Amino acid sequence: MITAVNVPELRRLRAGMRGDFGLVPTMGALHEGHLSLVRRARAECDRTGVSIFVNPAQFGPNEDLHRYPRDLDRDLGLLEPLGVDLVFAPSPETMYPAGFQSWVTVEEVSKGLEGGMRPGHFRGVATAVAKLLNIFAPDRAYFGQKDAQQVAVIRRMVNDLNFPAEVVVCPTVRAPDGLALSSRNAYLNPDERQAATVLYRALSAARDAFEAGERKASALRAITRAVLDAEPMARADYVSASDPDTLADIEGVGAGVLLSLAVRVGHVRLIDNLLLLPGKPNVSCH
Ligand code: PAJ
Repeated sequence: MITAVNVPELRRLRAGMRGDFGLVPTMGALHEGHLSLVRRARAECDRTGVSIFVNPAQFGPNEDLHRYPRDLDRDLGLLEPLGVDLVFAPSPETMYPAGFQSWVTVEEVSKGLEGGMRPGHFRGVATAVAKLLNIFAPDRAYFGQKDAQQVAVIRRMVNDLNFPAEVVVCPTVRAPDGLALSSRNAYLNPDERQAATVLYRALSAARDAFEAGERKASALRAITRAVLDAEPMARADYVSASDPDTLADIEGVGAGVLLSLAVRVGHVRLIDNLLLLPGKPNVSCH
């Protein structure tokens, strides 16, 4: 496994690699969710690259950029045994040198949900991912269903701008009690960690209703809200039932629905979702 910190070095190492290349973009603080993407890339591609970059452009002014967990040595120690070939760990100045002024904006699909609560977030994500796709030139790029709107934004960008990479989406990895793994779970104190199980309990209640035949978005949202409201430590930012590709709100969910939510537990903001498709059980890894 070789680690590059600048673009010419990364390109030189990448150019020497033959066969299908799979890229897993991350912000580090790696957990089993990230590692599941890496394993999938390893299984499907001849060569695998991982980027580790806490992307300042996707954090708002009052967000957690400065306290976001960073431990490159630990991350490299987790990646090495998985057989990763190439790691890119650039500095912010390498990704955004003085004079940088070119941004990728994916319009409609970036507007609601996370984009509505976090202005500029998806412009930052899309720009960083576009740069990583150009730097690595992968055949496939791997993303987690955990960040469903991010997947929709990146799929749109890859299609609209003709990036020659296939976007592969992997199931959400969860703790045994259902909480989706996230680097931000580290901010939760023990009481908050316990209360945070409410996200998956709320989504699961709506999934059960969907599987029992409920096809009205308003009913699924109400079921989700009722479970969230019963947890005093949790406050919902939004509960949404939307089209999985466009993220537009829908009322009839017969063709499938993305049920997503953002919830504050104490000072920690968590997101989760379930993709409900008629006739298909929801895929999620424990
Ligand atoms: P980060 O939050 O580090 O996540 C990197 C990838 O891991 C994303 O595709 C995310 O969806 C996936 N992931 C996170 N938790 C997961 C879980 N519990 N199960 C499955 N996959 C999970 O997402 C980003 O970084 C950034 O926005 C990035 C795409 C790297 C651009 O800066």
